[in-house]
Amino acid sequence: MNSKPLSRWQQTIERNPAHSQWYIERFKAMAAEGRDLVGEARLVDAMVGRGSTILDAGCGPGRHAHYLHERGHTVVGIDLDPALIAAAEADAPGPRYVVGDLYDVVLPDDVPSSYDLVFSAGNVMGFLHPDTRRPVLANIAGWLADDGRAVIGFGAGRGYDFAEFVADARSVGLEPESLFSSWDLRPLQDDSTFLVAVLHRA
Ligand SMILES: C[S@@+](CC[C@H](N)C(=O)[O-])C[C@H]1O[C@@H](n2cnc3c(N)ncnc32)[C@H](O)[C@@H]1O
Repeated sequence: MNSKPLSRWQQTIERNPAHSQWYIERFKAMAAEGRDLVGEARLVDAMVGRGSTILDAGCGPGRHAHYLHERGHTVVGIDLDPALIAAAEADAPGPRYVVGDLYDVVLPDDVPSSYDLVFSAGNVMGFLHPDTRRPVLANIAGWLADDGRAVIGFGAGRGYDFAEFVADARSVGLEPESLFSSWDLRPLQDDSTFLVAVLHRA
C-alpha cells in the first residue's frame, strides 16, 4: 500500500482520469485564441542572465518551460502527471522533462543539480498535500544555486494561507525577498487574492 500523501492533482485524476486531457486541451484552445499564456515566464526571463539554468516545478504541458528554452536557457520541467509530461514533450519541445513528484523526485544525472532560478506557476502550491508542503519547499531550496532565486505563484482560497506559506518557506531556509500580488508585480496587500513570492536561500 502506498502511504505517500497524494497531491490534490493526483486525487483529481484518480477520480476523473480525463482531467489531464481536459487541461491539455483547455490550454491549447486558449493558445489558438491568441491568449497570452506566458506572462509568468516573461517575468522569469527578465530576472535571470542569458543562458541560465531554470527548473519549472510542476511544469504541466510545458508552456513556460518551452518559452524559456526558446530564450536560450537550460530548462528542466518536473511534473507528476505523465499525461502532461507527454503533452509537453510533444507540443513544447526543447526542455528536459521529468515525471516526478516534487515531494520525493530525484533529479536524473543528465540535468543540472543546481539552478539559477526555480519557479512554480499555475497554483502548484495549492495542489500539494499539506504534509508535503515543507518537504517540497525544502527540495526547491536545495535545487537553488547559492545566489539563485525561487519564484512561486498561487492563488488564495486553495487551503494554503499566504502567511503559512511564508512561514513554511522560512522554516526550510527560503527567505522571501519580495512579495507581490501578480505576475506583473502589483504590490501584495492584505486583501490580495494571489501571491507571487520571490525567495532566496537564507
Ligand atoms: C494547474 S497545473 C499548472 C501547470 C503549469 N505550472 C502551468 O502553469 O501551466 C498544476 C500542476 O501541478 C502539478 N503538480 C501538483 N502536485 C505536484 C507534485 N507534488 N509534484 C509535481 N507536480 C505536481 C500537476 O501535475 C499540474 O501539472
